[in-house]
Amino acid sequence: MRDKFGREIDTLRISVTDRCNFSCLYCSKEFNKIEKEKILSYEEIINIVKVFTKLGIKKIKLTGGEPLIRENITYLIKEISNLPEIEDISLTTNGFFLFENVEKIKEAGIKRINISLDTLDEKKFARITGFKHLDRIKRVVEESCKTFSSVKLNVVIIKNINLDEIEDFLNFARENKMILKFIELMPVYKNLSFWKENFVPYKVVKNIIESFVSIFKIEERRIKVYKGENLIVEFVSPVSEPFCGKCDRLRIDCKGDLFLCLYGKPVLNLKKFNEEILNLIQFYIFNREYSFNPFAQISVKNYRFPVMNCLGG
Ligand code: GTP
Ligand code: 5AD
Repeated sequence: MRDKFGREIDTLRISVTDRCNFSCLYCSKEFNKIEKEKILSYEEIINIVKVFTKLGIKKIKLTGGEPLIRENITYLIKEISNLPEIEDISLTTNGFFLFENVEKIKEAGIKRINISLDTLDEKKFARITGFKHLDRIKRVVEESCKTFSSVKLNVVIIKNINLDEIEDFLNFARENKMILKFIELMPVYKNLSFWKENFVPYKVVKNIIESFVSIFKIEERRIKVYKGENLIVEFVSPVSEPFCGKCDRLRIDCKGDLFLCLYGKPVLNLKKFNEEILNLIQFYIFNREYSFNPFAQISVKNYRFPVMNCLGG
């Protein structure tokens, strides 16, 4: 369905757990805080997905915390990927529990995967994540590239830690034939000075890449996609160039709270929900705000609201 700004919504991001085995420097989440009874069961998630397919959701992204921590996740993947309306189901993971499980995850129905990896250096890896398993993650990345039809490496750029590793990432991506996704560091409100010291706009990263290889833009929908020789690079620029006008997704956290914007507050809890609130969900989606991203204010002023496209349904 479309919202009142004419934005078509076809993607649902579902967090299946609040737990994570890493504790990344920039992560704003608090882990292991939620009681088990409050977490959506697999049956509840499947029901939610079925109802959302009626509203036009075709793509599902499973996230966390770390989604592969959740027991028997292959059951959930299979059930969702068997739904005829679902065209795409993917996973964003830190890779740790993919080790020796890549085939199992593929067999369950995952065709493409995002692996978060912000450095190729062991000491920096320990500094960012709090753990010392870089070798294991690198092996998982290599194995995933041989198994899945598409692998993206999510790299959050942190000025004082990994900005000097761009060339290494380009080589690593080329060797393994995977897509590189550079993500601007978003403010972590419990540590704003860390963000101020380490934020880098995507254009700086792009310039550094261009000092090694020429790339040209092939797509700009939400994300900017560039191509070079044996290389695809994506930029996610929520800070320097917000893309709220093209936002196509909704989010559900592991308690079942529905978010209409990454930066917004939840509007409804879907844990104990039935089809009767379908109309209410439609109402919220249609009327969703343009954006709660604090960096998007300029885009809001410049955005020309479509008239013909905003009929919903
Ligand atoms: P695919 O790579 O296409 O599978 O999508 P994805 O959902 O993993 O990645 P996406 O391109 O949406 O963004 C990657 C990461 O950027 C997300 O995991 C978010 O944490 C982060 N991000 C930062 N700001 C935003 C924002 O305003 N909107 C969205 N959608 N993502 C953001
Ligand atoms: N800034 C940018 N990206 C972040 N992610 C998590 N926290 C932040 C942040 N503060 C990214 C992770 C992962 C994706 C799900 O979100 O690195 O790739």
